[in-house]
Amino acid sequence: MELIPHVLIFPLPLQGPVNCMLKLAQLFCLHQEIHVTFLNTEHIQQRLLNFTDIQIRFEKYPNFKFTTVPDGLPEDNPRNGEQIRKIIEGVEEVSSPLFREMVINCEKPVTCLIVDGIFTFAVDIAKEVGIPLLYFDTISPCGLWTYLAVPKLIEAGEIPFQGNDLDALVNSVPGMEGIMRRRDLPSFCRAPDLNSPIIQLVIKEGKHIVQAQGLILNTFEGLEGPILSQLRAHCPNIYAIGPLHIQMKAKLASQCLPNTAMSNSLWKEDMSCMDWLDKQPKRSVLFVSIGSLATMSKAQFLEFWYGLVNSKTRFLWVQRPGSIIGLEENNNINVPIELSESTKERGCIVSWAPQEEVLAHPSIGGFLTHSGWNSTLESIVDGVPMICWPYFVDQQVNSRYVGEVWKLGLDMKDVCDRATIERMVREVMELRKIEFLGRAKHMSKLAIASVSDGGSSYQDLDRLIEDIRLMKI
Ligand code: UDX
Repeated sequence: MELIPHVLIFPLPLQGPVNCMLKLAQLFCLHQEIHVTFLNTEHIQQRLLNFTDIQIRFEKYPNFKFTTVPDGLPEDNPRNGEQIRKIIEGVEEVSSPLFREMVINCEKPVTCLIVDGIFTFAVDIAKEVGIPLLYFDTISPCGLWTYLAVPKLIEAGEIPFQGNDLDALVNSVPGMEGIMRRRDLPSFCRAPDLNSPIIQLVIKEGKHIVQAQGLILNTFEGLEGPILSQLRAHCPNIYAIGPLHIQMKAKLASQCLPNTAMSNSLWKEDMSCMDWLDKQPKRSVLFVSIGSLATMSKAQFLEFWYGLVNSKTRFLWVQRPGSIIGLEENNNINVPIELSESTKERGCIVSWAPQEEVLAHPSIGGFLTHSGWNSTLESIVDGVPMICWPYFVDQQVNSRYVGEVWKLGLDMKDVCDRATIERMVREVMELRKIEFLGRAKHMSKLAIASVSDGGSSYQDLDRLIEDIRLMKI
């Protein structure tokens, strides 16, 4: 009997990976021949049900099913950047045995596994059951390439760092010579000890990724062609299918399907900021957001606020609940009167925004971002120059590439004082506005071309779907 292609998708239970994998799942659903089971942790599924239309959106696909597993953490445990290790360990210890059961006993036989690149346990399960495994690494490929170079960096004695000079150049990441300083390596490279659990995890990830049948990446040739060439030497079968959010829109348009709101937000989006944006002049507003995991101290929070106000630029700022360390979710910080008065004049603050819509709004002229990979790609697609304030993992690499390689903005890493913020905001929004907007527009065109008929990401998605259809267990 001919088996129906059936993909089991399991993302890392965080906003960025869940967002990417849901988009990939929806793309598969548009191909009626592929069945999809999407595995979320109970915590993530509940938040998606609370704050998005996923139930209605996916109900119309008869070949799609959600299923859930516990993540091993108490319900009230915060799930921010400081908890990342706990989150990964929870999945490994509690969710992965249930995932294995599911793969073995699924009513409809699973023919392909697609899981986050950090889930090293999936290799053994795939081998045991004899099912092809594709890793989807939703971080940036430039970041992933530095992860894979960690053993080389250790061998060359470049990490742990000798001495305190974070500006020293790093030479052991092939293709990045002359670009990367120590401070641009992923944040975990700053650990004084090679036994740090995250470094050990990353080394393990590198060994496992090459054992999968393929690697899916959210990027496009026009942006990261040289990095993709490097990565192919490790993992020959790469599907570079990004930017996924516009790949999705392009596919819906090509099938004459409505391009309705497709939020996968884990927080409630405050739509009132769209009305506020409608009232602002073209390209006049700086969007400020540090994503779903990054945090800042109270002191940094005030430096940000002073920098923004002193720059005299209009701003839309996402202050995510729980993102300021030491400030309880419903507690207010004592904000000096001059800040709140100026904000009333030319600022708008929300707790979570419809970011894709915000970045596409004509009044947005810049993005002060933590350089998460989704945010970076979303900004690139909409031709919005960036000021980067990276928090951790691949973000340090992404911000270096934005500032130094793609030249789409400025890198503010490791600095957080009001004078620097004011200066950089003025540079991006006024002094070098035309220069940055010109380059951003060019990269945006390349992104759009990549998902258009015959573009590189368009072709890679077709190849991925064809390969999945041909996979037999
Ligand atoms: C995590 C990692 O920290 C990052 O380094 C990695 O590249 C991806 O996963 P995260 O904080 O989730 O990053 O940032 P990002 O990848 O940028 O994803 C955030 C998502 O939330 C984006 O898709 C963005 O559109 C969305 N978002 C953010 C909103 O919808 N509204 C907001 O107000 C803020």
